[in-house]
Amino acid sequence: MNDDTEDKDIFIGHYEIPDYANRAFSPLLQIGSTYDNVPHKPVIPKPNPRTIHDCLAYDTNTTMLYYCRAKYSLLLPFMKPKETLSSVSVQTEDTPERSLYLSWFPALLLFLLFGILVSLVIFFYLQARNSRVSISSSYLTVSDNHIQVGKISFNPCDILGHGCYGTFVYRGTFENRNVAVKRVLPECFNFANREVDMLRESDEHPNVIRYFCMEQDKQFHYIALELCAATLCDYVEDENFKRNNLDPLSLLQQAASGLAHLHSLDIVHRDIKPHNVLISMPGPSGEVKALISDFGMCKKLANGRISFSKRSGTTGTEGWIAPEMLQGGERTTCAVDTFSLGLVFYYVLTGGKHPFGDPVRRQGNILNQEYCLDDLDEKKFPEAYYLIERMITHNALERPPVVAILKHPIFWSREKILGFFQDTSDRIEKEPIDSIIIKTLEKYAYSVVEGDWREHIT
Ligand SMILES: Nc1ncnc2c1ncn2[C@@H]1O[C@H](COP(=O)(O)OP(=O)(O)O)[C@@H](O)[C@H]1O
Ligand SMILES: [Mg+2]
Repeated sequence: MNDDTEDKDIFIGHYEIPDYANRAFSPLLQIGSTYDNVPHKPVIPKPNPRTIHDCLAYDTNTTMLYYCRAKYSLLLPFMKPKETLSSVSVQTEDTPERSLYLSWFPALLLFLLFGILVSLVIFFYLQARNSRVSISSSYLTVSDNHIQVGKISFNPCDILGHGCYGTFVYRGTFENRNVAVKRVLPECFNFANREVDMLRESDEHPNVIRYFCMEQDKQFHYIALELCAATLCDYVEDENFKRNNLDPLSLLQQAASGLAHLHSLDIVHRDIKPHNVLISMPGPSGEVKALISDFGMCKKLANGRISFSKRSGTTGTEGWIAPEMLQGGERTTCAVDTFSLGLVFYYVLTGGKHPFGDPVRRQGNILNQEYCLDDLDEKKFPEAYYLIERMITHNALERPPVVAILKHPIFWSREKILGFFQDTSDRIEKEPIDSIIIKTLEKYAYSVVEGDWREHIT
């Protein structure tokens, strides 16, 4: 808070205020515990920022989430990109003296041999890494209407779904395990290879679809994946769908958790939409979970980079694509997934609606920033409006990173919310009645308690 500013909003959170924000926030306002901290990237402060908006303007790694009408926020920074170093060293036994006397021909020969040696090392290294990718040369064998390709078998009549460019997904088996078999046409082999690469790197998270193996015959590639019960569309639109333990907020939290995992590995999904969020088969006690799937459009960010150029292609599905993907100039970041996830949040919480309207106008409305969030049930999900509005904001830099969304109060348990209010109240009690903190809090009293709070207690 800053005395000079017109707007005297108070920002309260369960997190430590990062150093760079201390000029905008009085440290005296820090309240409560500091658990669940998200690691943050230290940023050199700009001299004397006047408001929190100034902070956002100069530190694009910071994001603010508004909660409820009390307007408190969590200040959470982006995750620091991981830095990795790798090196390969090859030793030869040549002594410097001998090499001095080498004529150009043996030197060329040596160079070629050396090249072959390095290629072999790389080849065997990749083979070892790709142990789960079995490129089968076996022919199709047909029995009981089933087709066998290497270790994968499937029934071509048992179709689970189909994607773009002639992709079909069948029910099948891999090593006696029930799986989904994704059959990909040659035009999409690139996508299939990318999908497998990304899955190999990321599928150990409980909310990322599990990959088993890839086979190929003369015509197709086949990817064996964890078999799922349904897509998010079935969950939302099919009234008879058995939701078991999975309420809408748990589902969204799980989907966000899977996506945050991808982002932590510097993978941008680039095609988040309801068809690509799947619902697992029921576990031993009937529980189901949400899984991020369809990694064909994924992009791995280069080491230390937070953005990718659009030369790698505009990808996604119309109506679910972030505006910066379609606009010239800007580089794109993980924030494209935050945008699409915001649309998925709205879709789930409203039972199938889209903030940017009907399918025909959606993408145009996205570019023109014309949205409506009126279908949200404010009583049921009071925190959703501000969160979704922030997730789908036009300016990618103002969208919260998914790791911050996971910390949002929309996902807090009742106990955690109560604990937060108790901490806040304990802290506020120490303030003199005419303090600026009390006055500022009181400013929002009416909109928070709506006159008589007793009438709103359930
Ligand atoms: N693991 C799975 N289990 C059950 N159904 C699946 C599975 N994977 C995909 N599907 C179904 O197939 C459809 C297309 O699969 P997807 O991987 O999204 O293909 P594409 O990359 O062509 O979009 C999905 O929307 C879903 O209906
Ligand atoms: Mg898909």
